[in-house]
Amino acid sequence: MSYKCLICGKNIEPFMSFGQMPFANGFLTPEEFKNEYFFGLEVASCSVCRMFQLIEQPAPEKMFHGDYAFFSSTSNRMAVHFKEFAENIKKNKLKNKDPFVVEIGCNDGIMLEHFAKDRIRHLGIEPSLNVAKVANEKGCRTISKFFNEELAEEIVKEHGQADAFLGANVMCHIANLNSVIAGIKKLLKPEGVVVFEEPYLLDVIEKTSYDQIYDEHVFLFSLGSIKYAFGQYDLELIDIEPQKTHGGSMRYVIAHKGSHSISDKVLRQLKKEEQSGLNKDETYLKFKKNCEISRRDLINLLQKLKKEKKRVVGYAATSKSTTILNYCRITKDLIEFISDTTPIKQGKYSPGMHIPVKPYAEFKAKYPDYAFLFAWNHAEEIMEKEKAYRDSGGQWILHVPKVQVI
Ligand code: SAH
Ligand code: TMP
Ligand code: ZN
Repeated sequence: MSYKCLICGKNIEPFMSFGQMPFANGFLTPEEFKNEYFFGLEVASCSVCRMFQLIEQPAPEKMFHGDYAFFSSTSNRMAVHFKEFAENIKKNKLKNKDPFVVEIGCNDGIMLEHFAKDRIRHLGIEPSLNVAKVANEKGCRTISKFFNEELAEEIVKEHGQADAFLGANVMCHIANLNSVIAGIKKLLKPEGVVVFEEPYLLDVIEKTSYDQIYDEHVFLFSLGSIKYAFGQYDLELIDIEPQKTHGGSMRYVIAHKGSHSISDKVLRQLKKEEQSGLNKDETYLKFKKNCEISRRDLINLLQKLKKEKKRVVGYAATSKSTTILNYCRITKDLIEFISDTTPIKQGKYSPGMHIPVKPYAEFKAKYPDYAFLFAWNHAEEIMEKEKAYRDSGGQWILHVPKVQVI
């Protein structure tokens, strides 16, 4: 069977399979176990445009709907991060009078609220109705639709073109990215800018953070692949800003070709990507090996702790944890339960491996010997909050950059 690259259309071959996977955010009840949806999680790096992508992509409507389990505002640190993101845009990118800002994947309004409160003209595009509702209640004007070229044309008709087109952790979720980019081309004012940030492929490769790979992450971007994808539509990468969020992200600034000067940072980082081997197949084969080593070490550690009769629980039922648990086939005989602060995940079971998800209070009530930090990207925030767990002798299990107990 041959597959086509979602960006350039050339033939691609998977270099790695993670096996059958459920939806990363598909937390479920026992009644739902028998109808649980699985798909083959396989990844490829296109040898022409170098876009890192999933071979099979579940339908967007199956992932983003009125019961979407991820609410952006559950992390206080991310709330601060997005306030700063918004302030940066307001200060540096909205020079015109009465500017218009569009954000796709605005979720519960975590970033858009900072434009709404200053009465800046804005529009949020958020297909998951439950989180879009929260954004609207906060005063963010949000429509519950999937952004694509057709919707971009409708927005231009109704509101005119945008000064800034924003996104965070959303562009990599959209399989028909070419349609999104074609839409951006039409929606963006001649002097407008596109600013979005997404998990960065080079961080994933360097840290073996394979848990960034799941159904919703159709792509993992690099400067090289972004440059190619937007270049197809005469849009140009003009600046970048590496971010610590989500275990290593990259913020990309894009504009109509020739409208802005290009920062030296772009050229320097492109060079770094080349030196790191992002354009070579062997880099991905090495990544595959590293994933297998990580899986072996993790299973060995959990089995050893089980033999020693230690209590191990998971901390935070993240989307990323679904890849780890299913790839390593970790069931509740190795991890008793996963504690999470999101009400709609509590009382349900983890996708695929069916480990119970319990309220945070249960973690607090009886500290385990070991807590597997699935939300390792929020480590700083969580370690600070959980000093008492540490003081009581509790230890953390981390799997990035390598499997370890700290
Ligand atoms: N920006 C937020 C939310 C990221 S989760 C943050 O960084 O925390 C990704 C969001 O993108 C989900 O809320 C999902 O519903 C939304 N989404 C998925 N496909 C989309 C599309 N085609 N257009 C707009 N939003 C989309
Ligand atoms: P994310 O890694 O995709 O941002 O998901 C974060 C998940 O972790 C979400 O379900 C909430 C949960 N969480 C906790 O349970 N406790 C915490 O302190 C934090 C920061 C997150
Ligand atoms: Zn390609």
